[in-house]
Amino acid sequence: KGDPRLEAISAAIRVVPDFPKKGIMFQDITTLLLDHKAFKHTIDIFVDRYKDMQISVVAGVEARGFMFGPSIALAIGAKFIPLRKPGKLPGKVISESYELEYGHDRLEMHIGAVEPRERVIIIDDLVATGGTLSAAISLIESQEAEVVECACVIGLPEVKGQHKLKGKPLYVLVEPS
Ligand code: PRP
Repeated sequence: KGDPRLEAISAAIRVVPDFPKKGIMFQDITTLLLDHKAFKHTIDIFVDRYKDMQISVVAGVEARGFMFGPSIALAIGAKFIPLRKPGKLPGKVISESYELEYGHDRLEMHIGAVEPRERVIIIDDLVATGGTLSAAISLIESQEAEVVECACVIGLPEVKGQHKLKGKPLYVLVEPS
């Protein structure tokens, strides 16, 4: 708060009412990616936060965590791990289910991508219920690595994501206005 970069980031996120269905106020980060300054601020803020925290892994959640995670990983000298939707990864995977509003989905990670005791941050564009990030945390922890924090560009305030994040800290840059 008070950081003018956060204002620029908020302003660059387009809100699309009734997408993908009625009643949803869709937070569109593609317009943030089009705004070089605001995109750079986003990456810089995460890099400043994590560069001296002995993080060796940035794990990004498909699909929009892939748009932020690799830039952060390169800047802090960490590796990047894609956490993918089912059936996309060719190697041996571990899989974790999570609840959606209707039904459930799954995230997968390659076995061997992360080593025991590595320090990991998990990146996504947005946290709503926290179900997706919780599945991501479970994948990392199943390999005995340490989730230091989850980081998102946008946090929806009306949902209690934090309670579902298995006790892990959540860092968000902006909340929808
Ligand atoms: C969105 C968003 C997060 C997730 C957050 O992804 O990018 O990954 O939902 O919701 P939650 O906190 O309630 O779990 P989506 O499932 O739309 O997938 P996509 O990025 O592949 O389109």
